[in-house]
Amino acid sequence: MESYYIEGGVPLRGEYRVKGAKNSALPILAATICRAGVYEIYDCPKIGDVFAMLEILKSLGAKTIWEDDCLIVDSRNVDDYAVPESLMSEIRSSIFLMGSLLARGGEAVIYRPGGCDIGRRPIDIHIAGLEQLGFEVDILDGKIRCKGICHGGKITMPYPSVGATENLMMAALAGKGDTILENCAIEPEIVDLQGFLRNIGFQVFGAGTDTIFVKGSYGNSLSKNSIERMYFVIEDRIEAATYMAAVIGTGGRAVFRNIRPNIMKSVLDVYERMGAIVRTSDNMIELWVPKDLKNAGIVVTQPYPGFPTDCQPQLMTLCAKAKGLSTIREEIFESRFEHKNQLIKMGADIETCGKNAIIRGTEILHGREVKAMDLRGGAALVIAGLMAEGTTIVRDAFHVQRGYEDLEKGIKLLGGLIERKRESKKEKT
Ligand code: UD1
Repeated sequence: MESYYIEGGVPLRGEYRVKGAKNSALPILAATICRAGVYEIYDCPKIGDVFAMLEILKSLGAKTIWEDDCLIVDSRNVDDYAVPESLMSEIRSSIFLMGSLLARGGEAVIYRPGGCDIGRRPIDIHIAGLEQLGFEVDILDGKIRCKGICHGGKITMPYPSVGATENLMMAALAGKGDTILENCAIEPEIVDLQGFLRNIGFQVFGAGTDTIFVKGSYGNSLSKNSIERMYFVIEDRIEAATYMAAVIGTGGRAVFRNIRPNIMKSVLDVYERMGAIVRTSDNMIELWVPKDLKNAGIVVTQPYPGFPTDCQPQLMTLCAKAKGLSTIREEIFESRFEHKNQLIKMGADIETCGKNAIIRGTEILHGREVKAMDLRGGAALVIAGLMAEGTTIVRDAFHVQRGYEDLEKGIKLLGGLIERKRESKKEKT
């Protein structure tokens, strides 16, 4: 087990290039199975969830290799359609294999997926959508078997689920008929998945709006004729928002490259409300806070383009040291305030009631030993450590490494004092 050791109180300054998006890379990696081929994927982040996804692809017969920053996935020899249970439970994104395996061969066996413990994470929208597309779905003791020929049709999702939109987009590719998906999520990462699918020869239109059209390619041998392609994953707006929170939380100033301001609008609006000065150009954002942080007012997490739930814990940390009262309402996941108790240990004044968290800003956060409970909550604790007086130890760094490539390297680059260390046996007891 590894931990972050952080000396707080140093303003983060400098320049940072935002890495490729976790939430694009994972469905795109699953999508490499939709069509036999050799794919060079650039800007794929080297994070725990990606490594777990690569293990799944290998178990199905794919070959994967990193050549510097390029990830090569060779899916020509994928010949299995059953994802091992042990690998399924590693990551939530394993659910995407259902769509891609169905696109490739009309059959998939998966288990209920794992991932962050941030509340009930049902997959009913995925299952209902697959059934409406014409697949037979059997669920027994957590094992999900899905088979059949997709006839396509019009499907209206009851909620714009990101994962279900992506899964159904892939499952519909091998349809005998075309598919129209309605009430889709409109996240930039879904547009990126569409970009990849088009790049490898499929016809998908409309991603980024609430209606997506998928041309069924049954019988036209797309899945058999192998191709070679390269693809660049889009930038990680959540990674960017996390570093930005660390910069403004420590009273620093930094320039972020490889980030489009328009996909970060809801986050930048809140940071500005808290007193940040934000300057943007095409692919760059610079920000700093000239005075103390102001409270965030009322912030509600919502599907894109609303404030992302994946930035909520980091915002809570900022609010803990901002002047006055801030209220955060978590509308996406039901128990996503697990980091709250750890922040309270550091001196934060936070009360939660159902979906709401009320945060009264304090002047000082204190360095303490705390524990990452999930990916974004863990990142929020690292930020808290950077903002606190004294030393903070964030245990169970693996949660953070699931979604951030070398977070400590990035923070050091900006002048922060942080080390990632393996816990000695003595420390663990
Ligand atoms: C994706 C992101 C995750 C982000 C989340 C919300 C990836 C790999 N992960 O997760 O980082 O936090 O979007 O922006 O892209 N729901 C159902 N039934 C379903 C599916 C979802 O009720 O079948 C509910 C969920 O419980 C949750 C809400 O819908 O309350 C949003 O979930 P969804 O958009 O599906 O999130 P994920 O795709 O899991």
